[in-house]
Amino acid sequence: IGREIFYFDTLDSTNLKAKELAANEQKEGTVVIAEEQTNGRGRLGRSWSSPKKKGIWMSIILTPEIEPTDAAKVTQVAAAAVWKGINEVGVKTQIKWPNDIVLNGKKVCGVLTEMSGELNRLNYLVVGIGINANMSDEDFPEEIRGLATSLKIELNKEVERKELIGRILNNFEELYEELIHNNSIDKSIKICVENSALIGKDVRLILKGKEEEAKAIDISKEGELIIQDKNGDISKIISGEVSVRGL
Ligand code: BTN
Repeated sequence: IGREIFYFDTLDSTNLKAKELAANEQKEGTVVIAEEQTNGRGRLGRSWSSPKKKGIWMSIILTPEIEPTDAAKVTQVAAAAVWKGINEVGVKTQIKWPNDIVLNGKKVCGVLTEMSGELNRLNYLVVGIGINANMSDEDFPEEIRGLATSLKIELNKEVERKELIGRILNNFEELYEELIHNNSIDKSIKICVENSALIGKDVRLILKGKEEEAKAIDISKEGELIIQDKNGDISKIISGEVSVRGL
């Protein structure tokens, strides 16, 4: 992972660029990094603010031989790798399933996994990682100021982005190889569970347009969130199907 890095000053979106490269046979492990994104994209069609030199905006191209339904596992690997990298530079964050990293209840990182393939064949995956590294409050769009934070705001000093990128890619490689070669996601899930912002808490989730309350109790080996409702019934939520919010 990261043996080949495409580096840009400005891009519309590193995910878009990575998808374009992947469609042109660019191989597994290629990383796309931009100093700034003019059309950074978030989950659920949202935009992602990506000001110049203030954050880490990068995407990893992957071509694993897994079922498309297993893409959620790769998202857990990415969340665990980012959590570990940020932890190694001295900040203890929490992972908010499926793919947010939060600090003091505010979002510092999001992961956007996109795939191309057919029903039972995956062509490639692009894992986009956005980290609010060195942003000040005024770098965030007004409407998300109360909801987002940066490592710099919490640490009171700038973080070395290059170092953090290196750590995240190393962690990602280690945890991803576990998944690909040993068919094991245990290490990643352990990190996601132990540092979860949701597990053990009552959460509110939107399930098929309906709001429900339940307790988050675990993350499965498939990367699903396991919840228990008021009647004691246990169910699993597939990533992408719901949005979860701590009460
Ligand atoms: C989310 O939480 O909604 C996911 C945000 C993902 C943002 C990253 S920044 C690098 C990559 N390129 C994009 O356009 N989006 C992802």
